[in-house]
Amino acid sequence: MIEKIEPLGTGTGKIVYSTNDCEDILHFSQAEILDLFKSSGVILFRGFSVTPIQMKAFSEKFSHSYLKDPTKGSLDSVDFVNSVDTGMGASAAHTEHGSSPYQPDVIWFCCTTPAQEGGETLFWDGIQLWKEMSKDTKQLFIDKKLKFTFEDVPLNVLNQWVDCGETIDDCKQVLDQFENFNYQINEDSSFSLKYLCSAVVKTKYGNQDAFANFAWTAHARGWEIFEDGSKFSEEVVDELEKLFDKSTQEISWQAGDLAMIDNSRFMHGRREFKDNRRQLFTTIAKIFD
Ligand SMILES: [Fe+2]
Repeated sequence: MIEKIEPLGTGTGKIVYSTNDCEDILHFSQAEILDLFKSSGVILFRGFSVTPIQMKAFSEKFSHSYLKDPTKGSLDSVDFVNSVDTGMGASAAHTEHGSSPYQPDVIWFCCTTPAQEGGETLFWDGIQLWKEMSKDTKQLFIDKKLKFTFEDVPLNVLNQWVDCGETIDDCKQVLDQFENFNYQINEDSSFSLKYLCSAVVKTKYGNQDAFANFAWTAHARGWEIFEDGSKFSEEVVDELEKLFDKSTQEISWQAGDLAMIDNSRFMHGRREFKDNRRQLFTTIAKIFD
């Protein structure tokens, strides 16, 4: 049973504390945590000395399937648990796998070694971002879909993103299930992919409008943003920069912390760090309804 709980950041997030030194995270009931998760969207569990293996075991109470992430190093002993310490730079706001239709409901992070300085995980509430956006910018995102294109993706690489099977036919069957995901199979059997999606989505819990997407990271990477090939105007960049800045919340990691983030509502990112001992692990999953 949850005994000690405090706000995390300035929004709906919560910190659940261990009240004794040997409290096991696995003792929490699924129902109790899921209830809190639905209303808060971000939970930080502190004082439970969570390891990557315990993170995976705890996440299994809530998850029916896991997603791969080829951009991160995998831990050999634990399927679907990845290190997120590739690079030390800042990471712009994004939803996990937001540039593809195969997105997790929940992203879990656990920290075994925080950076001495920096390396905080940042998060933004998409409901708040959407509420505070100007009418004109809202209209832009209502009028234009976001576009993500990937050229000449080999089958084995595609299969690391979208778990679509070993053969081209298997893959076609899986890809055909996604709306707004067009693909072309090239002569060399690689795939060219185009994903169109709205920047404003409905949250999994509460069905509210949320600005939760991959657009800000696409902008940071210099990609085209919209389906017509356009990018953000200077005015929109200026507005979004100010909006993200004033809405930033953060997790300042302690060893053994575990975080659970609703990927249908919140975007996340990180501050840069210089301490190469920092160790953060993640697993991403589809959750039981
Ligand atoms: Fe991420």
